[in-house]
Amino acid sequence: MPRPHYVAAIDQGTTSSRCIVFDDAGNIISVAQREHRQIFPRPGWVEHDAGEIWQAVRALLGEAVSGAGIEDAQIAALGITNQRETTVLWDRETGRPVCNAIVWQDTRTDALTRALAEHESLFKERAGLPLATYFSGPKIRWLLDEIPGLRERAERGEVLFGTMDSWLLWNLTGRHITDVTNASRTMLMNIHTLGWDDELLAAMGVPRAMLPEIRPSAEVYGRTAGGVPVASALGDQQAALFGQTCFAPGETKSTYGSGSFLLMNTGHEPVVSKHGLLTTVGYQIGSGPATYALEGAIAVTGSLVQWLRDNLGLISSAAEIETLAKTVDDNGGCYFVPAFSGLFAPHWRSDARGVIAGLTGFVNKGHLARAVLEATAWQTREVVDAMNADSGLDLTTLRADGGMTADNLLMQTLADVLAVPVIRPMVAETTALGAAYAAGLATGYWPDVESLRANWHKAAEWRPAIDEAVREREYRNWKKAVARTLGWVD
Ligand code: G3P
Repeated sequence: MPRPHYVAAIDQGTTSSRCIVFDDAGNIISVAQREHRQIFPRPGWVEHDAGEIWQAVRALLGEAVSGAGIEDAQIAALGITNQRETTVLWDRETGRPVCNAIVWQDTRTDALTRALAEHESLFKERAGLPLATYFSGPKIRWLLDEIPGLRERAERGEVLFGTMDSWLLWNLTGRHITDVTNASRTMLMNIHTLGWDDELLAAMGVPRAMLPEIRPSAEVYGRTAGGVPVASALGDQQAALFGQTCFAPGETKSTYGSGSFLLMNTGHEPVVSKHGLLTTVGYQIGSGPATYALEGAIAVTGSLVQWLRDNLGLISSAAEIETLAKTVDDNGGCYFVPAFSGLFAPHWRSDARGVIAGLTGFVNKGHLARAVLEATAWQTREVVDAMNADSGLDLTTLRADGGMTADNLLMQTLADVLAVPVIRPMVAETTALGAAYAAGLATGYWPDVESLRANWHKAAEWRPAIDEAVREREYRNWKKAVARTLGWVD
């Protein structure tokens, strides 16, 4: 029997799923990836087919293992990381989803969340979250209200809820469980006790019988059909925090995917934000204490580039945005605020919708491409300002990762806008790496977190290169554009 030499991770993201095999130095040995359908039944609605996603993940697991030229027996552990908040309901008996999953970007619960305003401080204090369409709780409530007979079946425990981690764990191990980081995004978990909270459940109108058991982020949950221990689950942004080895309080990373998420490790006590950030669980290894994080969540960054490609046809691949933006020297006076799902941190305004401001006859598609990249940088600046204000510490460098960090112009713009150096690590797949690390710790593949730090290496660094006066003028203009997005939806 070959000795286990590798760790694998499933990264179930918003637009695609991936399975990656790593060696003990954190190097990527093989990658298998598949996109899944984005279903837009109405403006503001976004759905996924959870059955399609599970079929893809199952196939990817086999492809990644054979792509590495190895067998299941050589995989010491399998970790799971996932798009958070996306809500799946399935039938306990048949194991089939009862409807499409409602994706985190979906805004159909706008009226519902406004109707919950009387409970705002309860949710903020117990769940660490503002009232927003983003989280799972309102999505579950909406489905229970809208689908005839569903609430009664959920109360009897016949219909189960889970985020994508839970859905994959159910299919891989047969257990109805979730991890504490994913549970911290539902608005139903008390972040202090790390358990489902009766008052939060009552306020949201969600029956306890449909909820999974909350488990730590790293422990052996069960085994795959091929006998591989399934040993971690973390929301993708928490996994990236772990993959970037941000194990000490104050350490911060920002991940650039379809949205962007800046997380700061705040240690073992949850810090309640006063500046529009989320309090979330960062990770919990086995029976150890939970580590918390403050998070600035930005809904639309990479998905704006996709929108330019798919909805406007202005570019034919996402990578082309950089080439197009480089055809001009600046934004030509144009600012693009992509409030497609309302505005997330630090504004939390579900009544906002996107604007392109400052248009004149001078503006061409190159300027628009630059405004698209700058939108990611300015949105990051807003959450960094909030993070500095909440923590009382000024960010000194930004550890960036995720698909968009391949764009060098974006990396330079980020350094310019934030006025701090931006660093990209050697392994930009930090999300999957974080899940692999947690699974490897749970099974003893890696002895401790210190051994993981040794795997982190800087690949590139960008330093600020614009005048302070230009930076401030541009920030003022950005804020004027943001103000124009507010109050669009009554
Ligand atoms: O909270 C949503 C987030 O987890 C989605 O991440 O990388 O799939 O856009 P991503």
